[in-house]
Amino acid sequence: MRRIAVVPGSFDPVTLGHLDVIERAAGLFDELHVLVVHNPAKTALLPLAQRVSLLENSVRDAGLPANIVVASWSMGLLVDYCRDVGASVLVKGIRSQVDVAYETPMAIVNRHLAHVETVFLLPDPAHALVSSSLVRQVAALGGDVSPFVPPAVARFLDTGVRER
Ligand code: PNS
Repeated sequence: MRRIAVVPGSFDPVTLGHLDVIERAAGLFDELHVLVVHNPAKTALLPLAQRVSLLENSVRDAGLPANIVVASWSMGLLVDYCRDVGASVLVKGIRSQVDVAYETPMAIVNRHLAHVETVFLLPDPAHALVSSSLVRQVAALGGDVSPFVPPAVARFLDTGVRER
């Protein structure tokens, strides 16, 4: 049986911390879906399609394994997507106790809803403090985000966002 997992998130934008978790997870499963999900609790900086495009470029530029599929989902529950693609596992990166507190209720709900298990991976400590919200803030104030994001995202934030 093929082991299929999903790494869901807002990816607004994808960071080096995300890519690290994606690469590690891709080594653990036969197929890994990196899913850009609309989070109604957050006001997004980038449209869903832009986030998908930046993720696709970042995965390709980093030479990550070919078993990675980038997709988006805004049609309902995350577990509905899992059912559609035959995934039984969600993968989340955990940087701190704050992330554990945020992710635990979602993991329990997803298990109750559809018997989908959540696996937590620890990021490389080099990326432990990187978050999309900090990247958005640094970019909005004109700072250099290149130490925190893939080159495709740094290029985009340097031009695309400021031209809005
Ligand atoms: O990167 P984020 O914003 O922390 O990701 C959160 C996300 C998008 C994974 C979460 O909000 C989610 O799963 N949304 C889909 C809606 C859903 O299935 N909700 C019920 C279970 S939590």
